Amino acid sequence: MPDTPNIQQLFPERVFTECCRIEDKHYALRREEGIAVEKAVTGRRNEFGAGRMCARRALESLGMQECVLARNSDGSTAWPPGIVGAISHSDLWCGAAVARQSDYPGVGFDIETADRVTYNIAKRVLTDSEMDWVDRQAANESRKWFTLIFSAKESIYKCLFPLVGKGIRFHDAEIIPHVDDFSFDVRLTDKIASRIPPLLSLRGRYLLYEGEMFTGIVLIK
Ligand SMILES: CC(C)(COP(=O)(O)OP(=O)(O)OC[C@H]1O[C@@H](n2cnc3c(N)ncnc32)[C@H](O)[C@@H]1OP(=O)(O)O)[C@@H](O)C(=O)NCCC(=O)NCCS
Repeated sequence: MPDTPNIQQLFPERVFTECCRIEDKHYALRREEGIAVEKAVTGRRNEFGAGRMCARRALESLGMQECVLARNSDGSTAWPPGIVGAISHSDLWCGAAVARQSDYPGVGFDIETADRVTYNIAKRVLTDSEMDWVDRQAANESRKWFTLIFSAKESIYKCLFPLVGKGIRFHDAEIIPHVDDFSFDVRLTDKIASRIPPLLSLRGRYLLYEGEMFTGIVLIK
């Protein structure tokens, strides 16, 4: 097994990624970035810094050097004009995925520890048909599939945020996993689908690496 998960496989061509262990990353925050975490505890500063470093590296693959990535007041990242992207961190890992908006109008990415999502959390987050799907899988794998569906919804939130804002709820997206090829389809409620251009569709993939679930999604024109 490689010593870093290959999150590039979560995305189609022209999406660029970077992933690292938080503890391995030597980062230097730019002044505008540091404001967001100046009162934060060390762990939060480290994950924030490592995420910014991953994002900066991914942007270099798009030919953009030394980008400063401030935090917007709603928590989202202030990407350079014409760029979409997402950052995520778990306790161990962080990563970022970026693309040109002209290629993909939205990109989402998320990391979750794979047994983190309990039945009680799943009951609030999953729709009835998602629950039925998990019930049809091996009983000892429920938490893994709860986590996949939860993480996919976090990725969708980040991907659609620039288009629909905070108005999306967990039951606004239904995840249909395909375990044979580590992908998932997404069905949006009419309320959300009507707020994104009609020709756009969502395509997602997942990756399990040493007990951590990674999901990635793009809006396709
Ligand atoms: C915003 C949210 C997705 C962050 O996810 P998380 O698992 O808590 O944390 P992650 O480490 O994965 O991601 C954190 C990053 O998300 C990004 N982020 C934060 N708020 C965001 C927003 N409103 N939009 C887009 N990205 C956002 C930031 O880059 C942040 O990293 P930073 O603070 O270091 O800059 C989560 O807190 C949330 O609000 N979830 C709701 C999901 C939801 O309702 N889904 C329904 C859709 S079906």
